[in-house]
Amino acid sequence: MNILQINSSARREASHSTRLANRIVERLRDADPDATLTVRDLNHAPHPVLDEVALGALFTPADQRTPEQAARVAMDDGLIAEIQAADVVVLGVPMYNFGVPSQLKNWIDAISRAGVTFRYTEKGPEGLLKGKAVYVALTRGGKYRNTPADTQVPYLQTVLGFLGMTDVHYVYAEGLALGAAAEESAIASAYEQIEEAVAFANERIEEAIAA
Ligand SMILES: Cc1cc2nc3c(=O)[nH]c(=O)nc-3n(C[C@H](O)[C@H](O)[C@H](O)COP(=O)(O)O)c2cc1C
Repeated sequence: MNILQINSSARREASHSTRLANRIVERLRDADPDATLTVRDLNHAPHPVLDEVALGALFTPADQRTPEQAARVAMDDGLIAEIQAADVVVLGVPMYNFGVPSQLKNWIDAISRAGVTFRYTEKGPEGLLKGKAVYVALTRGGKYRNTPADTQVPYLQTVLGFLGMTDVHYVYAEGLALGAAAEESAIASAYEQIEEAVAFANERIEEAIAA
């Protein structure tokens, strides 16, 4: 099993979303100690924004690209190869100003490529990143689960589904800014949600190893 962990918090040390993503990975590896892990920290290694230069490079045929354009496309190619190789994707996702961190948006922009990770057919769009389990650790200062203010989950559900990733498990740590007791209970709840989310996956892994 290949696990790809994507961290998107701007905080390197104290990030709850990264810690929860780490915990998800730890529990998955308990069931499959041979699992490989690739960690991409988007604030440690920021990916460039999808701007006019990037679009120009992407829409120039490969054999006509300048060395700079080829290098820019190769950066996105690297992220696409990582997710294509992954069986399991674990995302650490803080809420920033009611959206996903801009670095995570840059990553999504990089991996969303027509003809490679999705395509249009006569029957409509088809996601090409199929057969992957996705775990998303969401951290928020407030509480927005199942309300219109939770723009993150509908967005992630839509874009991940569009790319073919429909087996998505969400772990919520909400109310982290509402005092120490609320923070503690949010993290405890998130740990419980992780156990539930990985239990089913781990049963499948153990069966596959035993077979
Ligand atoms: C710049 C910034 C914007 C934030 N915006 C929101 C927000 O819109 N809603 C919310 O509930 N929490 C918001 N928060 C709180 C974070 O979601 C919360 O601190 C979370 O734990 C951050 O994730 P991390 O612990 O992985 O760094 C914001 C925090 C920062 C630093």
